[in-house]
Amino acid sequence: MYGLNGRKALVTGAASGIGRRIATRLAEEGCDVGILDVDAAGARGTAAEVERLGRAALVMEADVGEPRQLKEALAAFEGRFGEVDILVNNAAITTMGRIGEIRIEDWRRVFQINVEGVFSLCSLLAPRFAARRSGRIVNTASWFGKIGKSHYGAYCASKFAVIGLTQSLAAELAPFGVTVNAVCPGTIVETGMREVADRRAVESGLKTAKQREAEIPLGRVGLPDDIARVVAFLASDEASYMTGQSINVTGGLWMH
Ligand SMILES: NC(=O)c1ccc[n+]([C@@H]2O[C@H](COP(=O)([O-])OP(=O)(O)OC[C@H]3O[C@@H](n4cnc5c(N)ncnc54)[C@H](O)[C@@H]3O)[C@@H](O)[C@H]2O)c1
Repeated sequence: MYGLNGRKALVTGAASGIGRRIATRLAEEGCDVGILDVDAAGARGTAAEVERLGRAALVMEADVGEPRQLKEALAAFEGRFGEVDILVNNAAITTMGRIGEIRIEDWRRVFQINVEGVFSLCSLLAPRFAARRSGRIVNTASWFGKIGKSHYGAYCASKFAVIGLTQSLAAELAPFGVTVNAVCPGTIVETGMREVADRRAVESGLKTAKQREAEIPLGRVGLPDDIARVVAFLASDEASYMTGQSINVTGGLWMH
């Protein structure tokens, strides 16, 4: 355990998959958790799990691509819990298709959620964290933020952007003792995005996650808990000398 007792965490995209497990893992660590997602029903399910763990939960139904909704959500969080201690920018979507097939509307929506969403919440919270000289930001990037992949042009470009933003913000906030890091999941199952990606892979004649399992050096696909454990570490004082890092959690699939 990483000793996060009493901290207040805001997790985006926490209605399902990796974000849900990050929220419940932070609750196991002693955090009260704000669950921000467009999927209100899923977010309520996560909140119920957090409460079963004995911590307080707040559901914030909001679109990370809409800055005004984020301002309102943050006001609701602060009204209930006070200042945010830990921000986890995890919400994202994907779109598949070769360049030439991806519609500009889909490209923009991917960037609006995956990149502008991170930018907007960081813009709201970075000045507060700097003023208080405390705070932790963890962004969910991807190993697709380190290597381009066929059919994933928009998604890869958005995750490269998240890693760049993580590094710039880390440099800006380091003088204040605030750390900013990213996790880069590999092939993680039991998530909404994986279901979509597998379905589209089948349609495009590509391999599903399970069919690619043999390519993973540690011999298995990842689970949301594999990511949540690393996020809890990065959010803790144990990681106080780490900033600007993008940590691969890929079972050895990617090593750079
Ligand atoms: N599953 C994988 O293999 C994998 C691999 C690498 C990176 N990731 C990253 O992990 C993160 C979580 O994805 P997941 O795999 O758990 O998928 P998921 O679909 O289960 O979770 C994404 C969550 O984000 C929410 N969301 C989508 N658009 C939103 C918006 N506009 N505003 C607020 N919330 C929104 C969804 O409702 C959902 O709850 C994402 O950043 C994804 O890019 C996943």
